[in-house]
Amino acid sequence: MNNEAIRQQVEALLSQMTLEEKAAQTVQVPYTVVGREESLRWAKLGAGSFLHVLGDDAREVQQTAMQESRLGIPVIFGIDAIHGHGLNQQAAIFPSQLATACTWDPAVAEEMGRVTAREVATDGLHWTFSPVCCLGRDSRWGRIDETFGEDPYLSGEMTYGIVKGYQGDSLDADDSILACAKHYIGYGEAVGARDAVDTQMTYRKMKEVFVPPFQRAVDAGCATFMTAYGSIDGHSFTADPKTMKTILRDEMGFDGFVVTDWNNCGSLVTQQFVAEDMQDAAVQAAEAGNDMIMSTLEYYDAVITAVRAGKMQEAVLDEAVRHILTMKLRMNLFEKPEKTGVPGCIGCEAHRDAAYRAAKRSVTMLKNSGMLPLRSVKKIAVIGQNADDIQSQYGDWTYLTHPNAEAAREPLRPYVTVKEGFEALGAEKGVEIVYHPGCAVRPLPPEVLAMFEGPALKDPVAEAVRQKAMKRRPPADDIPGAVEAARSADAIVLVVGDTIDQHGEYKDRADLALSGQQMALYRALRALNIPLAVVLVSSKPLAIPEIADSADAVVVAFNGGQFGGQAVAEAMFGLFNPSGRLPISFPAHSGQLPVYYNALPGWHGGRYMDMPRTPVYAFGEGIGYAPFTYANLTFDADTLLATVDVTNAGNIAGDEVVQVYMHDVVASVIRPVKQLIAFTRVTLQPGETKTVSIQLKRDDFSLVNREEKRVVEPGAFELFVGHSSKDEDLLKTEFRL
Ligand code: NOJ
Repeated sequence: MNNEAIRQQVEALLSQMTLEEKAAQTVQVPYTVVGREESLRWAKLGAGSFLHVLGDDAREVQQTAMQESRLGIPVIFGIDAIHGHGLNQQAAIFPSQLATACTWDPAVAEEMGRVTAREVATDGLHWTFSPVCCLGRDSRWGRIDETFGEDPYLSGEMTYGIVKGYQGDSLDADDSILACAKHYIGYGEAVGARDAVDTQMTYRKMKEVFVPPFQRAVDAGCATFMTAYGSIDGHSFTADPKTMKTILRDEMGFDGFVVTDWNNCGSLVTQQFVAEDMQDAAVQAAEAGNDMIMSTLEYYDAVITAVRAGKMQEAVLDEAVRHILTMKLRMNLFEKPEKTGVPGCIGCEAHRDAAYRAAKRSVTMLKNSGMLPLRSVKKIAVIGQNADDIQSQYGDWTYLTHPNAEAAREPLRPYVTVKEGFEALGAEKGVEIVYHPGCAVRPLPPEVLAMFEGPALKDPVAEAVRQKAMKRRPPADDIPGAVEAARSADAIVLVVGDTIDQHGEYKDRADLALSGQQMALYRALRALNIPLAVVLVSSKPLAIPEIADSADAVVVAFNGGQFGGQAVAEAMFGLFNPSGRLPISFPAHSGQLPVYYNALPGWHGGRYMDMPRTPVYAFGEGIGYAPFTYANLTFDADTLLATVDVTNAGNIAGDEVVQVYMHDVVASVIRPVKQLIAFTRVTLQPGETKTVSIQLKRDDFSLVNREEKRVVEPGAFELFVGHSSKDEDLLKTEFRL
């Protein structure tokens, strides 16, 4: 159907809808919270959308809406399928967004999006609340794992890829789903990295730093946006028309619909105290440009009474309904309310292979004093809880790790932990693998321990919950045991990190040092003087300066998904040459944050007196088994073409990510010390040199001026090209625009 036909059908429908039906169309019902009966009642009322419902339950809701609501408007189902369709226990589980960003490859994000879309659609659903386009600039934030890292450009390119993957060529295809760019905007920039508090932001800063990844979502045709919890200068984003209308629709060109985040509307009354009551909140949220209201079911009555009382024009609601119905028509839901997907594809071999490839591409080696790849070793000690903890490896938003998941919470095969990856390869290569957990990543709080160690509970349901929780009980601390296990090994692989209890919503961390006895375990193993590699299975960069200094090798896996452990083992045995690069800086200490590379210049050293200025590992860092060298950087300021010679100076083929940064020498506003504006991947054989050309655009050098307009200011610029954001890794040239 063309745009005009869609427009006409939307208007025809709208003219038949009662005020109540319009209000219902803007409501998104949380199935898991209200349950089946209540959900079916909402379906009959004509609710526009439901979230967190899968399979046959979703089909029943859809049939009820189509057959028993007056106008039979199909509903759309949304779900958090953010690194694979992870809330379905059969699904292929990909690396987290942060781990995927280590690939610096939008094609990997696109493939992850495509596979996820197929699986979500096969479950009869239409919409994923992904990607997260917030920047992860302070690792204390609990949701760093959900971001594509700290940089607007990299995040934008990965966003573009994944949105294309979700939405495919056409929204009405059986295996395409709606993407949702979230959380618009500034959520990751909350003060002190405390989840959902206010944001230190101005509109200029918002447009310069935080809008770009969201703009790339719009460029890719992203169908929906989700708003953030926070506020700008004392004004809740939920009630901010400038953010949602002027910037998003007029300036960025977004033409889909906007959904609030969880109870954003109610929170205007209960959390942010800027609305007197629900009616006031409903009017503020609707007038600001929120089209669909997630989970705040009181909105329905409130918005109806507000219109009846003359406190809000019905036209405001009409506009929201228009946006929603337009999308339903673009998806062709009236003809085909249920996506069919690709029957049998959930967790199929091809999808698992894609998750495995993504995991391999995300492995990021940060240090190697020569111990890797592991060759001529007879015995390897693999140590650490996270070497064999699939829950930690998966990270957030999977059936196994998220409270909204209904599944049994038993990890389902196939998956491969680091320990299992080593065991499989060890068996192939005749290398003995011994494993010891060493210590708990996060020891149980005393009250939980007491419950675990206490007598069985009388209530059988509570006892069943206890039994289940006990299965996921962390290991007891036993550092001497781990040392004994490792004593006769030729190499030690120590896996450290965090657990699902230490990240996610409500779980920001003040302290990024390794928790529990993990540092003591590291020191005890280091004292054995056996080659020691440390692997990080974690949701975020943790503060590991001592390990960076004294370990023989450091490998970062973050949350690598289903085959994250296999990918790590294969990389460390040298089965492939790792090519991951950091999308985020590693702080030396929580107190060093924020430490992102593209800071604005300071003039008193920009550092704490008791802390280095630079991070432990910088944005863009990552090594493989071959070093790359750079020479002969040229830049033509007329054609904006940069060229550079890149050589593989090693004896194994490998991929290099050529990174391009710029610095605006003099500008009307203070600009970052350097800013990523392009990157490209090149594969080089041993000894091979390639001249890499990178075409830049004038807009790459633009800024947002004090009038909040994006402009290119003529003048002097510096261009840096090289291996990472570190000064010593970059060649530099100067030019004038
Ligand atoms: C709240 C989270 O902030 C958001 O990311 C998520 O999509 C919704 N809940 C729905 O689960």
